[in-house]
Amino acid sequence: MKIYSKQELNNYFLSLTYDDISIIPTEISNVKSRTNIDTKSKFLDLELSLPIISSPMDTVTGIEMAKELTNLGCLGIVNRFDSSLNEIFSNSKVVEGIKAVSVNLNVEDSLLEKIAENNLIVCIDTANANNAFVLKKCEQIKNKYNVKVIVGNIAAGSTLRDIANAGADAVRIGIGGGSVCTTSIQTGIGIGQISSILDVYFAREEQKINIELIADGGIKNPGDITKAIACGADAVMLGRMLAGTKETPGEVIKYNDQLWKKYRGSASFGVKMKSEFIEGEETLVPYKGTVRNVINTISDGLRSAMSYLNCNSIEELKKINTFAVLSTSSYLERLPRK
Ligand code: IMP
Repeated sequence: MKIYSKQELNNYFLSLTYDDISIIPTEISNVKSRTNIDTKSKFLDLELSLPIISSPMDTVTGIEMAKELTNLGCLGIVNRFDSSLNEIFSNSKVVEGIKAVSVNLNVEDSLLEKIAENNLIVCIDTANANNAFVLKKCEQIKNKYNVKVIVGNIAAGSTLRDIANAGADAVRIGIGGGSVCTTSIQTGIGIGQISSILDVYFAREEQKINIELIADGGIKNPGDITKAIACGADAVMLGRMLAGTKETPGEVIKYNDQLWKKYRGSASFGVKMKSEFIEGEETLVPYKGTVRNVINTISDGLRSAMSYLNCNSIEELKKINTFAVLSTSSYLERLPRK
């Protein structure tokens, strides 16, 4: 079997996603216990205990989720669709514990001023960062305010220099990979998440571009988070993995004797509420209890992976260079049998 380096994986003849690859432990691990492993990392000058960001979707991140993620050492980006943004700036108590908010292209200066005053990160939440208007907006915000800006999304690294030149501090990587995303079906656009992350990662490394990378969309389990970081992501953005938790906006629904919460794409009909072009689905996900439970499970998975791989820190995990490309049957063999 061939052991692939990141570079070789990037040159693989097919586009790859999380389930297509696996990480190969090749060293004797010196890690005594996974509790000794440090998953701390810096993201846009924030000290995070885990490099996890919640997606700015209306069924994922409102005020409660953002604050609880701050508590847990992660980052929540408040969505731009419901009334959360107004609420945040209406009362100085509410803004405490909020670290980042999302805005659209028509964001008013008055809102940006408040965001800057409170030292919050701005996420320009659009489907396509390879767009002159998005980059212009990013440039305007960076020229006028002392704030960090996240833009998105991109599927490949060919425009990374332009994005960094517009002043973006971080970029969301992933088009078509989100679990409620219908973009690829509706448009034929997008590549597998692992290939996307690697392509952008190598653009950054080869051109020495100063920008942080967020793997966004398609992450289903803690193992995918390990894979994203090992392929060069600085942080991962989660939608579905956090959807259905107590802290997400929206009601718990009882249906067929089970508890559920709504999860929907930002470009779904439910969000747009008009007959525009729809690129997102709407669904119910099982109610999961507190987000703390989910974050703890992710933390345990990541630590366990790092202990197999002899990595004591996230920085060491990013240097992993031993991957396998899985055949369909070796992928299936990895799954527990019923
Ligand atoms: P998930 O973690 O796989 O559920 O993916 C979440 C990501 O899907 C978000 O962070 C967005 O990048 C993306 N996304 C959210 N809403 C939509 C949509 O309506 N259409 C396409 N992509 C979406």
